[in-house]
Amino acid sequence: MLYLTLVYVHVLAALLLASAFAVEALSLWRMRRARNASEAILWVEFTGKLPIVVGLSGLVLLFSGGYLTARMAAWSLAWPKVAVVALVLIAPFGAISGKRIRAIRRMLLSETNHSAVAGALNDRFLTLSLNLRLWIFSGIVLLMTARPGGAASLVIIAVSATLGLLSAAIGSRRGVGLTALDAPAPTRG
Ligand code: HEM
Repeated sequence: MLYLTLVYVHVLAALLLASAFAVEALSLWRMRRARNASEAILWVEFTGKLPIVVGLSGLVLLFSGGYLTARMAAWSLAWPKVAVVALVLIAPFGAISGKRIRAIRRMLLSETNHSAVAGALNDRFLTLSLNLRLWIFSGIVLLMTARPGGAASLVIIAVSATLGLLSAAIGSRRGVGLTALDAPAPTRG
């Protein structure tokens, strides 16, 4: 019963993490196309609680995954170890993106000059980090479902990371075209 409950919690945490990525992607996309600062503020507010959701679901995935692996007596296999490493590897990218998005939020709210905000929003690292995390996340899901051997596990994560880099490069080449962020932010009081 405990095992099945933890499988459920594990999958729920994976869904939560995927939803958080979707919210981050949508907010970033909409912020970059905002017609004015008020619209950008509306979208940046969506990311407010994301660090908590991402941090909690990441920890739940790690600990529930660790327990499930132990119960399956699968720690001698490669895929759980590769999954742990991949999950730990993507964490700093999420942390740095979160920090930069919080800085953008502060800039927007403090009515900093808008070309500085546009510059921060155009930051290519945000695109790179999001693409890398999304693809490595999907690689981990493949590890969970296919449970491959050592070499195949490493190839899956390496291919996922490469796809993340490629999709980020394509996304950056298209450009974000943030030119309309020119109206002043509303005064708050
Ligand atoms: C982003 C990270 C992770 C995601 C998205 C994820 C997702 C999933 C999913 C969707 C399943 C169900 C697969 C199935 O039943 O066919 C699963 C099962 C499992 N996961 Fe993860 N997982 C993650 C991290 C981890 C980690 C780090 C470990 C090991 C330390 C782990 C260990 C397991 C185990 C042992 C199962 C099998 C449970 C069972 O079927 O009895 N997971 N995971």
